[in-house]
Amino acid sequence: MPARLVVLVSGSGTNLQALLDACTDPAYGAEVVAVGADRDGIEGLARAARSGVPTFVERVGDHDDRAAWDAALSEAVAAHRPDLVVLAGFMKLVGPAFLGRFGGRTVNTHPALSPSFPGMSGPADALTYGVKVTGCTLFVVDEGVDTGQIVAQVAVPVEDDDDVDSLHERIKTAERAMLVEAVGVMARDGFSVEGRRVRLGRAAR
Ligand code: GRF
Repeated sequence: MPARLVVLVSGSGTNLQALLDACTDPAYGAEVVAVGADRDGIEGLARAARSGVPTFVERVGDHDDRAAWDAALSEAVAAHRPDLVVLAGFMKLVGPAFLGRFGGRTVNTHPALSPSFPGMSGPADALTYGVKVTGCTLFVVDEGVDTGQIVAQVAVPVEDDDDVDSLHERIKTAERAMLVEAVGVMARDGFSVEGRRVRLGRAAR
């Protein structure tokens, strides 16, 4: 049985698309069973719909407070019985209810080399700082901002004439490949977390 993935998005969904494309190969070992979002009208949801994948939206503003939103999001995700939850450009922090249910099996992709440049503006912060190498990080989600245990990282050069958009696009190319590769191994062969360290593959189980 392929591993069941629920993917959460907030934007253009190119990382989601990379997963959808990978999942068309039965040998990949995973299927996207649902896509959720924190807002309507985004390309990420349209990509899911075009692939025939069910979608759901939980907007913070539709709930009394953040905790109620977190509980509702958890319920919506749980309804699709995921083995693994993938945050792919999901621009909200999940809360205690979500982590209580899906902690240890939720991964997020971040466009910087953790622990450098956490937060919403990783590519801009890398450019401002002047680093010559940045990249992307896949990590196991915890309660912090991009602080979870690192599953995979890929380095990306910063070019002299980069602006935020050109750098972010180069990072996203690496990010999509990293995500597809790492999620595939997690789905097919499992993973383990020990302290800060994540091990991928059969030996890890
Ligand atoms: C990715 O770089 C992700 O890491 C960041 O936002 C971007 C989302 O891109 N948080 P997309 O929606 O997958 O195209």
